[in-house]
Amino acid sequence: MKSRAVVMGHPLHPMLIPFPIAFLTGAVLFDASGSLRDLPSWWTTGGHLGLAGIASALVAAVPGLIDYLYTVPPDSSAKDRATKHLLVMLTVVALFGVASWLRGGPSLRPDVTVLGLEVIGLGLLGAGGYMGGTLVTRNLIGIDHRYAQAGKWREQTIEARADQAVTVAKRDELQVDQMKLLRVGNKRIVLARTEQGYVAFDDRCSHRGGSLAGGVMLCGTVQCLWHGSQFDVATGKVKAGPATKDIAVYRVTEEEGEVRMALR
Ligand code: FES
Repeated sequence: MKSRAVVMGHPLHPMLIPFPIAFLTGAVLFDASGSLRDLPSWWTTGGHLGLAGIASALVAAVPGLIDYLYTVPPDSSAKDRATKHLLVMLTVVALFGVASWLRGGPSLRPDVTVLGLEVIGLGLLGAGGYMGGTLVTRNLIGIDHRYAQAGKWREQTIEARADQAVTVAKRDELQVDQMKLLRVGNKRIVLARTEQGYVAFDDRCSHRGGSLAGGVMLCGTVQCLWHGSQFDVATGKVKAGPATKDIAVYRVTEEEGEVRMALR
């Protein structure tokens, strides 16, 4: 059977971020070399690269902010990393912005203060870029990974009351081994279909908060892709670590073609 992509987030931010990295790095190199060798055309190029770097960083920040708010799992190691990444990158833009303002124009020679701010900004850009890379390669934010029967990424916002079961899917909406992320108030819950029927469990891996909806589900077991922990989706019990704590599961019933879930 056909497998389709599972995408947690989207790849726009990682696709855009090379532009500010290239422009800002080039700005420092051209400004420093131009100043050392007394070449006005070089520092003018550096000045324009700095402005292009600031503009492209602000454009790349838009999908990054969307990922930060809606995709990076809350209360997780990735959220901590993403917060640091965000603050460092904002500082980089601020440093290059102040440097550009102090300079007074891209064709003017950068003085020692301007060069100093740019070099500090470049160092922070490296640190922030490393964190951003880790968010993609380890935390799989925006990664299009696949497994047999994965289906498309699905998510739905549900209005639910603690004392009342709510409809969360049509009976045929998911195939076996497919999952859907439910946003219920502040909670993230995974609805999944197994050979035995529908189940629901917390989206938060009990190890470091990885999204289980962004993991892999096969034969009644969901695997978190951050460090490989596995959980029985019917009982929530840990089947393989590093996680040691079980995850919460929720009661799911099927009535008249609808799947209903109770929060307790
Ligand atoms: S967060 Fe480490 S295994 Fe899930």
